[in-house]
This record gives sequence, structure tokens and C-alpha cells, in this order.
Amino acid sequence: MQAHSFKVRVDAVRDEAHGVRSFVISRLDGQPFDRYEPGAHIDVTSPCGVTRQYSLCGDPDHRDSHLFAVKREAQSRGGSRSLHDDVQIGTELSVGAPRNLFRLVGDASTHVLIGAGIGITPLLSMAYRLIKMKAPFELHYFARGAEHAAFVPLLSRAPFDGHVKLHFGVETDALDAELAACLAGVPQGAHVYTCGPVPFMDRVVAAGEARLPADSIHLERFTADPQPPGEAVLDSFDVQLASTGQTVRVDSKTSIVEALAAIGIEVDTSCGEGVCGTCMVDVVSGEPEHRDHCLSKAERASNNVICCCVSRSRSPVLVLDL
Ligand code: FES
Repeated sequence: MQAHSFKVRVDAVRDEAHGVRSFVISRLDGQPFDRYEPGAHIDVTSPCGVTRQYSLCGDPDHRDSHLFAVKREAQSRGGSRSLHDDVQIGTELSVGAPRNLFRLVGDASTHVLIGAGIGITPLLSMAYRLIKMKAPFELHYFARGAEHAAFVPLLSRAPFDGHVKLHFGVETDALDAELAACLAGVPQGAHVYTCGPVPFMDRVVAAGEARLPADSIHLERFTADPQPPGEAVLDSFDVQLASTGQTVRVDSKTSIVEALAAIGIEVDTSCGEGVCGTCMVDVVSGEPEHRDHCLSKAERASNNVICCCVSRSRSPVLVLDL
């Protein structure tokens, strides 16, 4: 589990769209929250005890409270259902410190934010910051219909309205053309940020890479891909701690996190399925076999970091910065 969690109180609960509810929280100790960068998410432990990650979607410079929104997922492990059913104003929850794998790029010529459904949430905090920076940006929001789109009244008024385009009811076979139109005029140096269902983000990435370098497209995943990972390159391998030289074997049935725990080395985890980045550790030497869903292409190619909950090794020994 993540080491740094603290207690908050729910100050407001609002229905934002069909099946989407937002929660305003403040710290129980009365202190302001630490600053966070737009695109960050927090772990939220629901009353039923399940911990899930939710993007912060308010103004990132607003430190008295945090805002996050939750879609009630039919296939959930209970986390979203419990937040919808068991939380009222005054409920106390446990949350983690913000983490961010989905950052705005400072020197982009323009920013294009493309979200679908509940994927609007990290993009909303980015929009707050871009407005404050007076940076050029567009926000394209896709949803099945207005009733499924969260925060529309907010996005439809100043200061957001001039930047936001709503795309409701776009059929699947028309999506590629619609995305191509969103990106038709983007200049070189633009960066694209997308969040939403995995198939939607795959289409945004394809549309973006048709016009821009691959490292200009950024995405945030909150679920692992449904397909199982392929065969591991090595059935077993050794992980060595750079600090002490201690080595532990990781066999085919054990994760790196589990193997390290067996020798008393605790790595913080949250999702356990490679989407949140909590378990990231720097790699000193060796070649990781990346099985996560959160590192960027550049981070994967560098082999400088590994998500220890799901990833494995292509080399017989992996030396980690532990
Ligand atoms: S614990 Fe979430 S990526 Fe490993």
C-alpha cells in the first residue's frame, strides 16, 4: 500500500452526469493540501475498503479542498459503487498524496486536450492551469450524449467556453474522421493529451501520431488492457538491491514486489495492475520487460524505470535503486 495517506472529510457531493458523482474533500486536520500539478491523481479508499485512483479535477492552485469525480462502474471491485452509495457530506475517507504521470509540457506551441466520458477529469485541471498561464489550448470532449457528459455547465461558461468543443453522439465509424478534424490545424510543437476508455485513447493516439511525433501524445490510463500479457521472456530472474548487493530470485509465479517483500523490502503499491505508477523504481542496470500501462514510450525505451507490480526482466539480473 501507499505509505502516505491521510484523513479527509467530504464537504460536498454532486451528481455531474448520468452515473458520475463528484466529491469535494478537505483535510480533517484543517491544513491546506499540498500543491499538485494538473493531471495528477490520488488514491481514494472507499468505505468498503477498496482503493482506486481518481484524477483531481479542480483548480490545482486551490489548496483548501480537492475535487474528484467517480463514474459508477458496473464491473467495479466495489470501489466506485461504495463511493456512490456509502458516501455523504461528512463522511471521512482516506486518500493518498497526489501522483502525476500525465503532465502538461511547458514548451508546447499549443495544447490539445481530448477526453471521453469520465476522462474529462484530469483534462479539467489542466484547463484551469492553461487558462491561468494564458497558454493556447483546445479541449475536445466526447460523450454518448449530454446526459453522460460531466461538468458541461462549467465548461460552457467563461473562462472555458471559448476553448471547449463538445462532441456528443459521434458514431464509432465516424470517430476517426472527427478526431482527424480536431487535429487538422495543429501546428508543429503541439502536444496532445487524452484520457478516456482505452479503445478511444488508442484512436486518439493513432490520429495524433499521423500528424505529430509519438512523444507529443500523452495519455492517462485507469484500467489495464483486457488482453493478457504475452509470454515472459525469462521464467525467473534475479533482482539485486543497489544499496546492499542483496539478491532475490523472482520466479514465474511471483511479482518483483512480492519477491522483495519476502526479504523485508517494502515497495509502495496501489493498483497492483500497472496503471497508477505508485510502485515505480529506478533501474540501475539490466533490461526490464515492461508490462505496465502507465509509462510513456520514452520512459519504456530508456529502461531507467520499472513498475514492480507487473513488470519483469529480460536480463538474468535486474539491479534496482533500492
Ligand atoms: S501499483 Fe500501480 S502501477 Fe504498480
